[in-house]
Amino acid sequence: VSGATFINAPDADYADAEQRDRALQSIQWVRQRLGKRYQPLIDGVYVATDAHIDSLNPSNFSEIVGQVGLINVEQADRAIQAAKAASLGWQKTPATERASILHTAANLMTQRRDELAAWMVFETGKPLNEANGEVSEAIDFCRYYADEMERLDAGVAYDFPGETNHYHYQALGIVVVISPWNFPLAIPTGMAVAALVAGNCVLLKPAETSSVIIAKLTEILVEAGIPQGVFQYVPGKGATVGAHLVKHPQTNMITFTGSQEVGCRIYADAAILQPGQKHLKRVVAEMGGKNAIIVDESADLDQAVQGVVQSAFGYSGQKCSACSRVIVLEPIYDLFLQRLVEATRSLNLGRADHPSTRVGPVIDAAARDRILEYIEKGRQECELALEMPSLEGGYFVGPVIFHDVPPTATIAREEIFGPVLAVMRAQSFVEALELANGTQFALTGGLYSRTPSHIEQARADFEVGNLYINRGITGAIVARQPFGGFKLSGVGSKAGGPDYLLQFLEPRVVTENI
Ligand code: NAD
Ligand code: ALA
Repeated sequence: VSGATFINAPDADYADAEQRDRALQSIQWVRQRLGKRYQPLIDGVYVATDAHIDSLNPSNFSEIVGQVGLINVEQADRAIQAAKAASLGWQKTPATERASILHTAANLMTQRRDELAAWMVFETGKPLNEANGEVSEAIDFCRYYADEMERLDAGVAYDFPGETNHYHYQALGIVVVISPWNFPLAIPTGMAVAALVAGNCVLLKPAETSSVIIAKLTEILVEAGIPQGVFQYVPGKGATVGAHLVKHPQTNMITFTGSQEVGCRIYADAAILQPGQKHLKRVVAEMGGKNAIIVDESADLDQAVQGVVQSAFGYSGQKCSACSRVIVLEPIYDLFLQRLVEATRSLNLGRADHPSTRVGPVIDAAARDRILEYIEKGRQECELALEMPSLEGGYFVGPVIFHDVPPTATIAREEIFGPVLAVMRAQSFVEALELANGTQFALTGGLYSRTPSHIEQARADFEVGNLYINRGITGAIVARQPFGGFKLSGVGSKAGGPDYLLQFLEPRVVTENI
């Protein structure tokens, strides 16, 4: 029972007519269930709230996907107390039992794969094939962390003549999980189940725009057997309830994925010792990127164009891993740019629930307006190579490419989180690497090259947590490409990797003189 036996969940195969039909039927099934009310789960009970939020379909904002009750700070305090009460019993529950609940949750997700994918299509505008992959990732996180906990639970014996030394792990206590909307199922599932299987109680506060899908995850965890108070679903406003949970003296750890601005705020808030607090809080903050792909003169251009297009415009560029800069060596610059523009022009922009859609909407009006502002800045500072038209009725932004973008341009430095790509020119491979490394981020990066010395140099000097050579830079797979960045992209160890669970555990050593 270790990572060695772990097998990734296969995606549904939409080339198979039966599987494709099932997925399309689920879209219809979910469509008929839009607009329902979802309530927070506190201490094993779905509770009433004073306020709620309408979660809208980004492809068609006149459609309400669900109404989600938002907790207030008093309810947040109640949830912390419930977690405290449940904490000891859960810590003492054998790791194999905790792991078994995760395996059951994975099985339930497998049974509900098409439905879960459909909820993501409606709530977050994620095209169906990408939502399909995300369900697989959520299943993988459950199974992989379950196996990992069983491995770690064995501890280590550092025995010596005359004494035994037992190295083992215990849970931290209460973990507040704060998640983003862009991987609305996989990321919160990963953060929550890692904390849970390690023996912690979890309060999960999802992003406001993706709270319905977490109501579905809650149903699954409850059905899988998570005890009362051990897992609580606490949708609420980030700036009020989220900040309150971060600052709460009983919170032991905050695991956050989201923007750099909020991640840095949480890091600072968590560092302040609150009255009555008897421990230092741990913070894992996974944040943004400004990811670059370098294309050198020896690259296979077919491969490079396809990989850049997919990495830049998949899910409308709303992945922390997305490519937002492509740095192209002078000898192939013009040819690459021409082919990139042609390939991008062929992308089908449309509603996420339509099977032929390659680029769906962005998440909400604020995101659309922010992206449009960046496009306007780009127009002022750089040259447009392509601007595709938007659509009406949803939060659509057509893919945009700027060329000959200088490193000082705003669109070359700041995370846009939308379908906007900056093409930059480099005279040498060394200059290309300097450009790639010239931001505050270090999340993903890519290189298309058939030159061994360039590949070696990139391996050594490309400052990113996940480097991809001759392939796209999104879609990391659990236990194959453990995922996460450094510099201002993150402070955690890699999701889906062998060090991840250690962040949720306290190591201890017991020595006995015999
Ligand atoms: P966000 O930072 O706006 O929100 C993330 C979460 O933080 C939400 O649940 C929000 O309610 C909460 N929040 C907001 N203010 C808070 C506060 N003061 N205290 C506590 N919680 C607060 O991010 P987003 O728009 O949901 O997600 C997009 C961002 O996430 C992008 O920057 C993207 O790069 C990043 N991201 C990073 C990774 C990674 O693994 N590194 C993965 C996915 C997304
Ligand atoms: N893990 C996600 C990816 O690799 C963010 O695209």
